[in-house]
Amino acid sequence: MMEGAGALAGRRIVVGVSGSIAAYKAVTLVRLLSERGAVVDVAMTAAATRFVGPLTFASLTHRPVLDNVFELDADQQIAHIELAEAADAIVLAPATANLLGQLAAGLVSDAVTAIACASRAPVIVAPAMDAGMWTNPATQRNVATLRDFGYLIVEPEVGTLASGLTGVGRLAEPPTILDAVERLFARAGDLEGLHVVVSAGGTREPLDPVRFIGNRSSGKMGAAIAEAARDRGASVTLIAGAMSVTPPRGVTVVDATTAAAMRESVLRAAPQADILVMAAAIADFAPARASQHKIKRSGANLQIELVPNPDIVAEVGEMPDDVRPFLIGFAAESDDLETNAAAKLRDKGLDLIVGNVVGGPFDAIGSDENKVTVFAAEGALSDWPMLPKRQVAERLWDLIADRYRHARGMAEGAETGRGRRRS
Ligand code: C5P
Repeated sequence: MMEGAGALAGRRIVVGVSGSIAAYKAVTLVRLLSERGAVVDVAMTAAATRFVGPLTFASLTHRPVLDNVFELDADQQIAHIELAEAADAIVLAPATANLLGQLAAGLVSDAVTAIACASRAPVIVAPAMDAGMWTNPATQRNVATLRDFGYLIVEPEVGTLASGLTGVGRLAEPPTILDAVERLFARAGDLEGLHVVVSAGGTREPLDPVRFIGNRSSGKMGAAIAEAARDRGASVTLIAGAMSVTPPRGVTVVDATTAAAMRESVLRAAPQADILVMAAAIADFAPARASQHKIKRSGANLQIELVPNPDIVAEVGEMPDDVRPFLIGFAAESDDLETNAAAKLRDKGLDLIVGNVVGGPFDAIGSDENKVTVFAAEGALSDWPMLPKRQVAERLWDLIADRYRHARGMAEGAETGRGRRRS
């Protein structure tokens, strides 16, 4: 894999610190980044300077701290915009509810918001706040907006908060934030030149003009996979079933809400794809007939005959080698994950299968987190904890990109784009 030591050496990173009690953790983060060879500049909001003195950061980075852009002289003002341009990444940690709101609204009131607003560098945001503030609809809307802008959110953790109460809102630990920064650089562009197709969401099999048989899939996992592929440079097509999340920007969206529509779209897209990830929850059965008219209540029992849907991913698995993309399926199993996933991998002709357990105390469906195990023909490849779906997606792409390159006989770091068909 391309991830590893040295990803941060020489990188220009701006750490923006806002006014939360967790500002002290930014000191550790800055130290960790500096130790890995990054050139770190710190910008602080006025409130942040009340929690940690700018001198602490200046001593660690050996660079001036930007803590009040409006008091800078003309030369420094220009330096400050230059910094926004020179930055390879911006890390906002801790990010308060106020900072999230300002960024989402495009408001600039200090050095932190000015740099984040002026820069075109990727932005990692690590929020920290009281649980009530974090779950407040305005905060959640602002986070969703920032995600839409392409900001990477390092989710706050559950723990004891400044109030003494326990809840979600505690700043992620500095090593977790460091990990997000390292991954950003290790991965940048590793899917460049590849066309990735991802199916996501659930299907709805019509019973009559208003009713359908569906499932609870939210499409969050597939959307995160598509978004992560986009950020790593792939051109992405998202074949979207019924989803409760907005598809990421910058990907081509094909709507396909029934299994039949999904089949048509997938079979059309697959021969052009280098990699196909089938994360959609496709109905295994559909009503034999959909009534043209709304079915009326009659007092009697209603029998619905269900017929099996074609197994779409298995059809792709049978495609001839010159058009068959590298193929990843999903398996949601209520028991015996390993055996069932292995059988599906074989029967459907997959390269990899992503398994998760459903029906237990943790319900991945609709959740923002997931715990998965990836299997190949030789067995389990991963042992990951429960993670936010975006982080699951990043790890999946680390693994998929690596296996794809090996399967196509490409050396690490060699040009990846459509090597199979052109060779
Ligand atoms: O057999 P099962 O439905 O558990 O398999 C799940 C995998 O197969 C997923 O990758 C899903 O997208 C795919 N699938 C399919 N066509 C179906 C049902 C599932 O491609 N009709």
